[in-house]
Amino acid sequence: NEIKIFSPATVANVACGFDVLGFCLDSVGDDMVIRKTDKKGIHITKINNFDLPYEAELNVAGVSALAMYDAIDVNFGFEIEIYKNIKPGSGIGSSAASAVGSVFGMNELLGKPFNKIQLTEFAIKGEALASKCEHADNLAPALFGGFTLVKSISPLQILEIPSPDDLYATIIHPQIEIKTSESRAILPKEVPLSDAIAQSANLGSLVHALHTSDYKLISNSLHDVIVEPYRSQLIPHFNEVKLAVLKAGALGTGISGSGPSIFSLSKGEETANKVKDAIEKVYSKTGIDFDIHVSKIN
Ligand code: HSE
Repeated sequence: NEIKIFSPATVANVACGFDVLGFCLDSVGDDMVIRKTDKKGIHITKINNFDLPYEAELNVAGVSALAMYDAIDVNFGFEIEIYKNIKPGSGIGSSAASAVGSVFGMNELLGKPFNKIQLTEFAIKGEALASKCEHADNLAPALFGGFTLVKSISPLQILEIPSPDDLYATIIHPQIEIKTSESRAILPKEVPLSDAIAQSANLGSLVHALHTSDYKLISNSLHDVIVEPYRSQLIPHFNEVKLAVLKAGALGTGISGSGPSIFSLSKGEETANKVKDAIEKVYSKTGIDFDIHVSKIN
């Protein structure tokens, strides 16, 4: 009647895959407890660490849970406890982890009537509360693991992309908050054709490189000519970090989701740790608090 789950953090966009590409981090995430209760409806009974709303209709985990609850006919309800480790507004899928966690846990307690695509559809409702638009590039990797590509939202189509065995991510999270809705609002509504061509060439070649474990091509493809020029201005010392990680041997780097977190990809744990050291060196001089971690991509 009760399940405890780990809901992982995720990196969306991955440089050239704005709103479609994402990957799952196995070392950071939220813990949640979902419990069946006699009282009908969805009840959020505990949230630690952060000041987030308890009303289900105003809470990302609550909204996705309500979307699932409306689709079932049961004479009991669910309680949700949220132990948040992913700071809201950090750019590593905080809202997605909450949105996915509640529906994943409920589905387990119900005997798994829904598949992962259906779970993503419920979770999109919660995600939309946070970012004011329906996107699934954090939800999909949180549910499916590894790299995913959201081929379309309506109908929802998600592709699982394989990745090389030795691929590691280094993530720095400067302790400033950037709201996804705000960092979407600064983006241009139209892009030049030449930028669209460069971006789609990079996205296509990145997906090919992930399939073929071609680290050199991964490195050549990790560029974002459309979004990064705008959003990088919101992230202190972004360009210095970029130069430092490439010098330390990273394959490539970019803004994680809507920022301020920055991800870098490396071949091997040793290089990922060197990249970590290089970022620490840059950021410890800035006076801005940050945390940083290395995660294998499975
Ligand atoms: N693709 C979304 C964006 C992810 O960049 O706005 C938000 O985490």
